[in-house]
Amino acid sequence: MMQSLPVPPLAVAPMEGLTGFPFRRVHARLFGGAESYWIPFVTPTALPRFTDRQMRELRPEINEGFRAVPQLLTRRSQDFIWAAKALAKMGYDEVNLNLGCPAGTVVAKGKGSGFLREPYALNDFLTDIFSADLPIAISVKTRVGFADEDEFDRLCGIYSRYPMKSLTIHPRLKTDQYKGTVRLGTLDRVYASLPMPVGYNGDIVTPADCFAATDRYPNLAHVMIGRALMADPALLRKIRGGPAATLDELETFRHALFESYLDAFGSLKNTMMRMKEYWFYQLSLFDESEKPGKAIFKAKTLEDFETAVRTVMAECPLRTDARMGWYKPL
Ligand SMILES: Cc1cc2nc3c(=O)[nH]c(=O)nc-3n(C[C@H](O)[C@H](O)[C@H](O)COP(=O)(O)O)c2cc1C
Repeated sequence: MMQSLPVPPLAVAPMEGLTGFPFRRVHARLFGGAESYWIPFVTPTALPRFTDRQMRELRPEINEGFRAVPQLLTRRSQDFIWAAKALAKMGYDEVNLNLGCPAGTVVAKGKGSGFLREPYALNDFLTDIFSADLPIAISVKTRVGFADEDEFDRLCGIYSRYPMKSLTIHPRLKTDQYKGTVRLGTLDRVYASLPMPVGYNGDIVTPADCFAATDRYPNLAHVMIGRALMADPALLRKIRGGPAATLDELETFRHALFESYLDAFGSLKNTMMRMKEYWFYQLSLFDESEKPGKAIFKAKTLEDFETAVRTVMAECPLRTDARMGWYKPL
């Protein structure tokens, strides 16, 4: 008989363009299973006010029915502080600092993983925000370094000085982007010495991957999952011992997601673009889907798009677990 393993808290990763509110709401309603949904980053500016566009993601009403954790991308402590206070006022109990984004424009400004290159400035920033007596818990999401795994020891020395709610670690370097395999050796080296609750994030695709992580890293604060949840919206349910997604469920899910995007954007073009991004991952839950899947991305009209999706769903065998179809070597 299969023994049921203890399930860690499960967090849905923040992914700009993928886990925005249209996805969060539909996923929470139709599949659920997440302790928290992390909101893709917003960048607070010196003007101490969120823009209307940012508020669309942050409005408490839009995140009702599940626990949402907002994330800030900044290197200016004053901006972090006003934004954290504003988020606390909206009712959020945690705010996350993004120290992982590898995008060129972000890194060039010393933000996201770009901040990892400046340990002194990062330490000053953390001193400022943790001594501001904020009415909200602060957590951090980080990579293991900018260009070299050895950087992580020093970064951990800095993180360990602050009373963060959790440190979520994606064991890649900025220079890896999202390529290659996760650098577990680096995490192995420091894990036992980290004093704060630690979350693991990276390349969890199946329930077995999740349990391998909890086995390797005891007492994880959470396991955070991103891309594989796009491929397989039932992944969290499966980790909890539930069944894999059926074709009917996937059909209902994709229609609800489409409606949710259309409702949010009011534009068919934008909706189709987002649905294509979703299908980039979802194809990995189907075997032999590469060739028929191409028509999905080529589709210019809704009719062509629907025909291509229906072909994949009708002709490609549905898998129980997704493949890591998005893997790229370093
Ligand atoms: C399209 C895309 C957008 C992302 N946006 C964010 C973001 O806004 N904030 C963040 O901390 N990480 C972001 N990430 C990184 C993910 O949160 C996560 O760390 C990464 O995908 C690895 O986890 P996974 O292997 O489970 O997908 C993004 C990743 C992708 C692919």
